[in-house]
Amino acid sequence: MKDKFGREIDYLRISVTDRCDLRCVYCLPQNADFCGAALGADELAEICGAAAGAGITKVKITGGEPLLRKDIIHIIRQIKQTEGIKSVTLTTNGVLAAKYAKALLEAGINSVNVSLDTLDRSKYQKITGKDCLHAVTEGIKALKGCGIDVRINTVLQYKDDFLPLISFAEKIGVDIRFIELMPIGCGAGFKPLLNTELKSMLGEAYKLSFKGNGPAVYYKGRGIKIGFISPISRTFCDSCNRIRLTSDGYLKSCLCYEDGIYIKDIIYDREKLAAAFAKVIESKPKEHCFSDKSKITEKRGMNKIGG
Ligand code: 5AD
Ligand code: SF4
Repeated sequence: MKDKFGREIDYLRISVTDRCDLRCVYCLPQNADFCGAALGADELAEICGAAAGAGITKVKITGGEPLLRKDIIHIIRQIKQTEGIKSVTLTTNGVLAAKYAKALLEAGINSVNVSLDTLDRSKYQKITGKDCLHAVTEGIKALKGCGIDVRINTVLQYKDDFLPLISFAEKIGVDIRFIELMPIGCGAGFKPLLNTELKSMLGEAYKLSFKGNGPAVYYKGRGIKIGFISPISRTFCDSCNRIRLTSDGYLKSCLCYEDGIYIKDIIYDREKLAAAFAKVIESKPKEHCFSDKSKITEKRGMNKIGG
């Protein structure tokens, strides 16, 4: 379905829980309070059926940490079997990735993004509050070892981690993407490292390769792609294709604004649910307002909206 600016909206991101086993400084406060998972596996499948009716073909399962849900494989399998949904992908912090790799493959996952901001054990602990670096790197290797299409997502905190992360990605043969920190939730208190600056640290050997069909611009690394997603230094709202379902059951059209519709109570009313999808898609704003933070009306954190 097209929005009023002519953008084809075919991508739904779902935060399946706001809970997380990490406490990344730019995402979750130490004393975070959680609502957990508002929607059951069958409810999520029902919602994805209606989404498909509104033209959604791709679903991203995110959080919080989606692998904390005991029914995560069941959720993925059901959505994957929904008519009209062609691809189901996952974003995870990777801590439990090794444990779930094989089951994810069997459930039909199309790709997995693992968040990793540093390869230094003490910096990892400083950023996330947990000593889990080893579990995450092993998790990435396990996903890759299973034959899953896996890539690393980095919200870089320390400039000197940039080249080591690229070397690691090259060594294990996994694409990596650098995402600029957005002023949402706790992220609002941090100054983002801009991708314009990071790109200038890439050596001569790395050449601009192509613009992906999503928001990323890719450079060619040694056997891998190095992507830059730059919501701050270069907005890509004019090609935005997504809407979002929060962990509290709220369908919304943009990260920045609180506008949306609670669909939790209309899940089994297909007509009302279809109308909610149509309305949210239709009302999608032209662009985000990260350059003027006072205009941001969304109060939810990234774990509820879906990072
Ligand atoms: N800006 C950009 N990315 C963020 N994430 C969390 N908060 C932010 C933010 N403010 C990312 C994490 C992870 C995913 C769950 O969301 O790094 O990749
Ligand atoms: Fe958890 Fe991801 Fe937020 Fe870190 S960024 S606290 S891993 S949801």
